[in-house]
Amino acid sequence: MDLVEEIREYVKKECGKETNFFGMNAYDYHFVSMVKYAKQLAEETGADMEIVEIAAWLHDIGSILGDYKNHHISGAEHAEKLLTKYNYPKDRIERIKHCILAHRGSKDIKRETIEAECIADADAMSHFDNIASLFYLALVTRKLETNESRTFVKEKLQRSWNKLTPRAKAVIKPKYDAAMLLLI
Ligand SMILES: [Fe+2]
Repeated sequence: MDLVEEIREYVKKECGKETNFFGMNAYDYHFVSMVKYAKQLAEETGADMEIVEIAAWLHDIGSILGDYKNHHISGAEHAEKLLTKYNYPKDRIERIKHCILAHRGSKDIKRETIEAECIADADAMSHFDNIASLFYLALVTRKLETNESRTFVKEKLQRSWNKLTPRAKAVIKPKYDAAMLLLI
């Protein structure tokens, strides 16, 4: 099995554990489409495909392991430990860590590399593929009321839109406009 595949299996296993607050939804409705967009953007921009794929699978590992609040920091640290076990080159580990550290729209951490841009874009883009799962997150996982859930989803999509690069906005615009029309 190659390394990317091993990492995917590892993330899937962690998502399936009872300790994961977000359940398998995180894998099925976020990671899978997030990785799809990340690879699409890496292809388009000539970013390092392996760095992008590994960072994509691991970008939310901090959340899955129970630290939503600082998951960009704990996730980067966890990725380092994990990849070191596979004897992955140190300089490439650093590049992956930067992608994870800089992926959150809510944190003002500058994306220094094209790979980090691919990860942040893909993370936000995937939300537009999975609006039903955002409502599940709001209504079921976070137990919000109907109106609060609509606001939660709308604001999450607006934050996602705001952090996109122009390149990613061009892809997502029809879905963004449609969502804003409906989530008044
Ligand atoms: Fe994510």
